Amino acid sequence: MKKITINDMKHHVGEEITLGAWLANKRSSGKIAFLQLRDGSGFVQGVVVKEEVGEELFAVAKGMTQETSMYVTGVVTEDSRTTFGYELQVKNIDVIAEAIDFPITPKEHGTEFLMDNRHLWLRSRKQHAIMKIRNEVIRATYEFFNENGFTKVDPPILTGSAPEGTSELFQTKYFDEDAYLSQSGQLYMEAAAMALGKVFSFGPTFRAEKSKTRRHLIEFWMIEPEMAFVEFNENLEVQENYVSYIVQSVVKNCPLELERLGRDVSKLEKIKVPFPRISYDDAITFLHENGFNDIQWGDDFGSPHETAIAEHYDLPVFITHYPIGIKPFYMQPHPDRDDVVLCADLIAPEGYGEIIGGSERIHDHHLMEQRIKEHNLDPQAYAWYLELRKQGSVPHSGFGLGLERTVAWISGAEHVRESIPFPRLLNRLYP
Ligand code: 4AD
Ligand code: MG
Repeated sequence: MKKITINDMKHHVGEEITLGAWLANKRSSGKIAFLQLRDGSGFVQGVVVKEEVGEELFAVAKGMTQETSMYVTGVVTEDSRTTFGYELQVKNIDVIAEAIDFPITPKEHGTEFLMDNRHLWLRSRKQHAIMKIRNEVIRATYEFFNENGFTKVDPPILTGSAPEGTSELFQTKYFDEDAYLSQSGQLYMEAAAMALGKVFSFGPTFRAEKSKTRRHLIEFWMIEPEMAFVEFNENLEVQENYVSYIVQSVVKNCPLELERLGRDVSKLEKIKVPFPRISYDDAITFLHENGFNDIQWGDDFGSPHETAIAEHYDLPVFITHYPIGIKPFYMQPHPDRDDVVLCADLIAPEGYGEIIGGSERIHDHHLMEQRIKEHNLDPQAYAWYLELRKQGSVPHSGFGLGLERTVAWISGAEHVRESIPFPRLLNRLYP
């Protein structure tokens, strides 16, 4: 018995092989049964012909319930009617375990029902495709940063400081001290950049945000590069090169998944550098000209504003130079203006919203000390961060890319809850 996986069938045309598989779906007539098989690596059709396998095995094939597990043996043939291109002519089936009333049937289900059954919903064709795309984005991320001279550094998850503001922290006990779950590894990555030059992290972050939107998770994964001697515009170039790299990697390496999701690949193929840039000032003018009279200079953008700006472009767009009042304490001021900072958000096309937040960081000791005071941050908790500005401080910049929003955009998923295996949402900690 030659045990292989579905994604390897292309190397075994004409051979008899065995798959460990589950039954995703089936249809049959009196003489022939078509089994939709899945094994984790992919999906393939198994064809069972009664005249060839005999009455008994044919009855087994016809009687199997959805999600029954089995070893199935057959001959690999080419099948030019499907993009996958191969089929299995079944000769034998050894049922391992039957499945009883699998809840996720091929019919439509409501969102809450699917979310309650996330542990099983993950097996569906669409969720499988999104997880494969998520994996490709992660793989391409490591490849991009490793090829460009970055070192992976892992910041802590339990922290004593709050880089993105204190309102959204998960607090916990650290023996006798108070600790917080990390909202961003940035401050630690700045220390690491002073040791290793160009660094990136990839890890979970936590925000107790009371937002119930298609873009917000309570626990999400972030990629955070940080670079010494890199200034504002150079930072944007790294971001656009990185984002176009991951999108093109998915286009190249996940064609079956994109097809299964019905994604319009031509929209992804267009994602090439350079990306457009619009200043916050010009974005406000644009919004006023387009009927958004609810927003004033100094306000942060909501999703409708971001979407209106993004719809103007086919590419992700950088919104640059936000007002100092709506951004965190660590951002470098504009050299000629004291009301805006050297930051940019990258807004994805098609209404997926902000996928990156980034900036040049303050490197002047005196200014950083002043900002920590103005923001009423605990000077002791930030002492080490301030000290970085005393020991050969250099201009440096970085950014954070939200993995789930990026995967939702590339996959065309409606909601970020589909781009993470077990989403943590407002009011959802199960399963
Ligand atoms: O813009 P944010 O808050 O930036 C930072 O945390 C910086 N310290 C990053 C850095 O410069 N190293 O978050 C970065 C990205 C957002 O653009 C978004 O993609 C994602 O993280 N994000 C979320 N994704 C899902 N659910 C949420 N609640 C998110 N909050 C932020
Ligand atoms: Mg942001």
